[in-house]
Amino acid sequence: MTGDYFATRTALVTGGARGIGRAIVRRLLAEGARVATCDVRERDLELLQAAAGDTPGRLACFTADVRDTEQVVAALDRIGWPVDILVNNAALAPRIPSLELSPAQFDLVLDVNVASAFRLARAMVERARGAELSIVNVASVNALTGQPEMAHYNASKAALLSLTRTLAVEWACLGVRVNAVCPGSTWTDAWEEGGWDAETKERLAAKNPLRRFARPEEIAGPVVFLAGPDATFVTGHGLVVDGGLTLAV
Ligand SMILES: NC(=O)c1ccc[n+]([C@@H]2O[C@H](COP(=O)([O-])OP(=O)(O)OC[C@H]3O[C@@H](n4cnc5c(N)ncnc54)[C@H](O)[C@@H]3O)[C@@H](O)[C@H]2O)c1
Repeated sequence: MTGDYFATRTALVTGGARGIGRAIVRRLLAEGARVATCDVRERDLELLQAAAGDTPGRLACFTADVRDTEQVVAALDRIGWPVDILVNNAALAPRIPSLELSPAQFDLVLDVNVASAFRLARAMVERARGAELSIVNVASVNALTGQPEMAHYNASKAALLSLTRTLAVEWACLGVRVNAVCPGSTWTDAWEEGGWDAETKERLAAKNPLRRFARPEEIAGPVVFLAGPDATFVTGHGLVVDGGLTLAV
């Protein structure tokens, strides 16, 4: 029986204020988990907290930059919750042609998308002190493909996938599982802000065989699967959730 698995677990989700992260927070809450989430978007966190009225005491939102591991850990210590599940979801994805990409822009994306995820994962392993821990990194199909003008982002997601595999092997003896989800195009606030016209949106959606964008909930489900009781023998895996995009060559 795995029915009450999440009721005894606490998750930390980074970048949970909106988009896929928010869907992961909501799904974990629906499964009965306690969820802490950090983001740099204060207003969106307030909205998320306000909308979680039916889960009193089980959602803790706090403003923190994932690059500052100490700030995140200090906030968790103030809340007083242990962490059994870490979802590294926060990321930056600015579209910049490689010849215009400054070293600082490259470093920033690598820092937020992969180095911060590594530092936080290590901090959570140290904090768990021998207890079981499940880490899910939100990578991307861009870890496997070469979308132009996204060299920095693609490199960060490929590194995150590599990190997932190495840490899974290195930390298995500590009772830590490390997996990744590689989403394809998922319609979120970030896309909404892009102001795409209907024709472009349709063309982008048609790149995968299912011919549509994923909904954030369709990424949250696989993340929660990897974090949870049905995946206790799964580690080092990169689960591609892309509507068949990477097969449709
Ligand atoms: N939407 C897609 O099509 C798609 C496809 C593949 C992978 N992904 C991945 O899914 C994840 C979520 O993407 P999304 O579309 O919801 O994007 P999003 O930009 O809406 O969400 C990312 C969240 O991370 C937060 N964040 C960014 N930098 C931060 C920092 N330094 N500290 C704390 N929080 C920070 C943002 O404020 C935001 O709330 C990302 O890892 C992204 O790379 C998205």
